[in-house]
Amino acid sequence: MKRLFCILLLAASACRNEQPSTATQAPPQQQAATSAAQRDPHSYSNPDQVRVEHIALDLGVDFAKKQLSGTATLRIRNEANANTLVLDTNGLTIRRVTIGNAPVQHRLGAADPIFGSRLEIPIRPDTQSVTIDYATSPEARALQWLEPSMTAGKKHPFLLSQSQAILARTWVPCQDTPGVRFTYDATIRVPRTLLAVMSAENPQARNEEGVYQFRMPQPVPSYLLALAVGDLEFRPFDTRTGVYAEPEVIERAAFEFADTPKMMQAAERLYGPYRWGRYDLLVLPPSFPYGGMENPRLTFLTPTVLAGDRSLVALIAHELAHSWSGNLVTNATWSDFWLNEGFTTYFEHRITEALYGREYSEMLWLLDVREAQDEIEALPPGDEHLYVNLAGRDPDEAPSIVYEKGALFLRLLEETAGRERWDQFLRAYFEKFAFQPMTTPIFVNHLKTALPDVVQKVNIDQWIHGPGLPPNAPKPQSEAFARVEQQAKTFAAGGSAAAIEGERWSSHERVHFIQSLPALPPARMAELDARFRFSESGNSEVLSAWLEKSIDARYKEAYPAIERFLTSQGRRKFLRPIYEKLVKNPEDLAFARRVYARARNTYHPVSQATIDSILK
Ligand code: BES
Ligand code: ZN
Repeated sequence: MKRLFCILLLAASACRNEQPSTATQAPPQQQAATSAAQRDPHSYSNPDQVRVEHIALDLGVDFAKKQLSGTATLRIRNEANANTLVLDTNGLTIRRVTIGNAPVQHRLGAADPIFGSRLEIPIRPDTQSVTIDYATSPEARALQWLEPSMTAGKKHPFLLSQSQAILARTWVPCQDTPGVRFTYDATIRVPRTLLAVMSAENPQARNEEGVYQFRMPQPVPSYLLALAVGDLEFRPFDTRTGVYAEPEVIERAAFEFADTPKMMQAAERLYGPYRWGRYDLLVLPPSFPYGGMENPRLTFLTPTVLAGDRSLVALIAHELAHSWSGNLVTNATWSDFWLNEGFTTYFEHRITEALYGREYSEMLWLLDVREAQDEIEALPPGDEHLYVNLAGRDPDEAPSIVYEKGALFLRLLEETAGRERWDQFLRAYFEKFAFQPMTTPIFVNHLKTALPDVVQKVNIDQWIHGPGLPPNAPKPQSEAFARVEQQAKTFAAGGSAAAIEGERWSSHERVHFIQSLPALPPARMAELDARFRFSESGNSEVLSAWLEKSIDARYKEAYPAIERFLTSQGRRKFLRPIYEKLVKNPEDLAFARRVYARARNTYHPVSQATIDSILK
């Protein structure tokens, strides 16, 4: 019987299409709890037959060539006696594949611009490991090679990686699906003046040789593979947390993120022990395309949250929360992305509440609700569901409504179950499914079993497979924000800027004020700018909200600030809405093209791809 099953699986794999996107093949064998998981439509690999369990990397970092080059040795478990190991690659030059010391004949499939090429390696039932000798392309989409001029210190180059969602395959040949986990180790050779760090046990200082050894003992999915190389210094917060940054930035970073140990305590109190050893932060140069990336043991961060007043540290709460939701219990495919990001956004708000109080966290909830409403208006039908079938699409362009809608759904479950019972449920959930992939149906079934009365009351289906925000969506409350809205209304109705009581507004109140304004005539924008100096704000959230409003108002005095903002940082969340607004008007479009011609080279490939498609 088992034999017959294997033959069927092999037959299914033989008739598999070239594109992972169009695959409708046999389901993969997931680890224990998720045997019903669907095949990942974004991976060519065949983990249902043979699984990668460990990767040993030995790579040289060549800044002149913009290339990583060396070997990846994959230890495999061939349970189905498969005769082929299929891996994901994208833009890799495969020089040689060996098993034992013997070369084997590999096959590299046709290249798809998003999914890359399948790499087929012939194996035997008893094959335990394969070694791939390879090099990356200078265009590898996960990697950004920074000139010294793009760093804070201006003296040394910098390399940073971003593997989520399916970019790990542009620098490591692997089963590039969140449904497969492996441990890893690495030897990384870098110029002597630089330090290398990874999502693994990390060095805290440079060594003479420029050769760094890494070990990652907990199994992780490929999207959490990460590497950065630069002129980095380390500063501890306490015995298990600290921050890496360039020497020019380390002081500001250590001040800004000083609450990290408290966040860790709050998170553990909520949902159980932190399972990853150390938790460190890495502040990157401003071209990093995201706010943060939850690389295990080492969260990667944009420097645009260094506001000087700790006002944007919810980002740390978010990335830390992923150490449970995402890194421990992992979305099985990118269509289940809400299980990572919705859970994490909810958890982020709970940490924020624990540290800074309910009044404060309600403001952040409300900013999210506004964001959700704006997003829903702009999304095509189907894309506002929590579960979104992303087969055939680039998961990096997945709608981000799942962050806020997912968080609101969990808040509804909390309010329906009662906080104590709900927290118990979550703690048990993270414990039970730790280090496993999670699908939407498995989560729903688990919820139905654990909290049947709650499930009956909330209309789960409408949340997961229905449009917009359902009518039972929780409604966060903030008196502070109500006052801000009142001030915005009065000003919009002709009130004077001087009469606004905004001296002591937090940055969140400022953002909310700006977002509560209707499109105003430029002269009225100028009055606000004279009063609050928004165009010069050092807070990136305030500045981006204001610059967006300025484009709506065609408030020309802010355009030099827009140009500065677009050419001094590459965070996609800030770039995208500004470029999207600029292309709507011919005069602004010319401005956008001129600025982008100057800025494009400084953006990470992830941001380049997004802005290219806006300006195409
Ligand atoms: N994991 C995400 C970043 C990500 C998502 C990278 C999808 C690639 C594909 C990270 O945790 C995140 O959500 N970052 C947000 C932070 C915010 C919501 C606090 C960001 O970068 O803006
Ligand atoms: Zn996240």
